[in-house]
Amino acid sequence: MAFQPAEWPRKLRSQEWYGGSTKDVIYHRGWLKNQGYPEDLFDGRPIIGILNTWSELTPCNGHLRELAEKVKAGIWEAGGFPVEVPVFSASENTFRPTAMMFRNLAALSIEEQIRGQPMDGCVLMVGCDKTTPSLLMAAASCDLPSIVVTGGPMLNGWFQGERVGAGTHLWRFSEAVKAGEMTQDEFLEAEAAVTRSSGTCNTMGTASSMASMCEALGMALSGNAAIPAVDSRRRVMAQLTGRRIVQMVKDDLKPSDVLTREAFENAIRTNGAVGGSTNTVVHLLAIAGRVGVDITLDDWDRCGRDIATILNLQPSGEYLMEEFFYAGGLPVVLKRLGEGGKLHKDALTVSGSTIWDEVKEAKNWNEDVILPVDKPLTDQGGIAVLKGNLAPKGAVLKPSAASKHLMQHRGRAVVFEDIDDYKAKINDDDLDIDETCIMVLKNCGPKGYPGMSEVGNMGLPPKVLKKGIKDMIRISDARMSGTAYGTVILHTSPEAAAGGPLAVVKNGDMIEVDVPARRVHLDVSDEELQARLSDWTPTHERPESGYAWLHQQHVEGADTGADLDFLKGCRGAPVGRDSH
Ligand code: FES
Repeated sequence: MAFQPAEWPRKLRSQEWYGGSTKDVIYHRGWLKNQGYPEDLFDGRPIIGILNTWSELTPCNGHLRELAEKVKAGIWEAGGFPVEVPVFSASENTFRPTAMMFRNLAALSIEEQIRGQPMDGCVLMVGCDKTTPSLLMAAASCDLPSIVVTGGPMLNGWFQGERVGAGTHLWRFSEAVKAGEMTQDEFLEAEAAVTRSSGTCNTMGTASSMASMCEALGMALSGNAAIPAVDSRRRVMAQLTGRRIVQMVKDDLKPSDVLTREAFENAIRTNGAVGGSTNTVVHLLAIAGRVGVDITLDDWDRCGRDIATILNLQPSGEYLMEEFFYAGGLPVVLKRLGEGGKLHKDALTVSGSTIWDEVKEAKNWNEDVILPVDKPLTDQGGIAVLKGNLAPKGAVLKPSAASKHLMQHRGRAVVFEDIDDYKAKINDDDLDIDETCIMVLKNCGPKGYPGMSEVGNMGLPPKVLKKGIKDMIRISDARMSGTAYGTVILHTSPEAAAGGPLAVVKNGDMIEVDVPARRVHLDVSDEELQARLSDWTPTHERPESGYAWLHQQHVEGADTGADLDFLKGCRGAPVGRDSH
């Protein structure tokens, strides 16, 4: 049924703080007036929280403080009242043990920042990997009108005449140094060349994938995902987003109106078409869990199975986000999906129009970047969900980043009990390993690390690299950076620290991987596997207090989004009791 805008004018929730003349209202209003706001701004107009993940320790979002001024301008123009609110910023490149452990803490704190404060609508200012899902999760749980504007990707990196992608080339250069193909001095020289402007990683890594998900879900204005951070059109997008949220509040257009099953299916297919990150799997599952849409890992496999990757971007392809923008951006990809019958065209977006209305006129200006459908980068762009006795609840693999010759393979397991064990052994020339082996890493899942780190694409042993070998099968319960590549089986569920079968794999076991059949199998008898599981005792790190303890006690498996069990669902944004 088509969305029906609410009647306007009507009393908004912010009026519980600012409308009237009671002592409590005078208290709230008077204090805000110390910022120099005139009386007529408290006349019942929408108060918009600009939730800003700017932080000097989240460099990918380092320009959002400035960009927020454009959002504010748009809100003022449309007759709203902007209030900028700094929120928890889970930076990918600073947080230890891993930013992922703090995605849920950020979502928890931001949800309460929205619910407990006088906001009628929210602009979610995000960019770096975890900032996007954490704010979407919070907004989905509160269900106030909300719109995303991302910070946009960095400009292209260039080094020694080659286009270099943030993240992707860090992994490549690191392997090249180990293989003796690059000097350490060259590696250091490349450092600044890879990240040469404000913005998020310029590959189709997790940040760009999540920006694309926002647009495909309908939670951002059309064209948002690809505009470079430093392009003036990013500032225009911010201003238009500010204007739009005011009308969304008047219409009462909420996340639950936009985040439907159809929207999630559109996003899953889009992730395949752009060759997006495997991290989008856990994030979209978590967002769906907040809004109450029953999306599962099986939906990822079903919807993505016949989606071709038509975007020629690193890490799977050649170009970077800057070229994607010049080629026409995500609207072109969505249009191609729609023309191929792979898009729910009627899905509503934050613009108030359907997604098809937003993209049907899109034009492709560069067919080397956004490829014709009959010449895709790979015809298997979706996320493959593998199951079997090694991953009863599933594991994921990104076929477009994997090696064709390893898609069906049987190999001897070389086991690392945790990441420290891996680091201690991997450079040892006496390690009994060759390129036919399967590297197995345990205790890196949501409970195990704790936090589910991005170490699943563990580097190959130097003695294998020196033979010119670039890829081996790796299996773990970890994640992998969206900028990474390889035949890497991730998110194995249940994870080792929860007593999943991964925990009892031994050196020398044979493992069979059959991606076309979606199978990952530990070649031991059922009796043997059960006996090993009965004898298993946990070995992972167990925090005794603080947030790490809370996280480990309550985090769910990667197969359902790795959210905290008590945060799932939509709790709305009722106005609580006043204590003044
Ligand atoms: Fe922040 Fe890549 S590390 S976007």
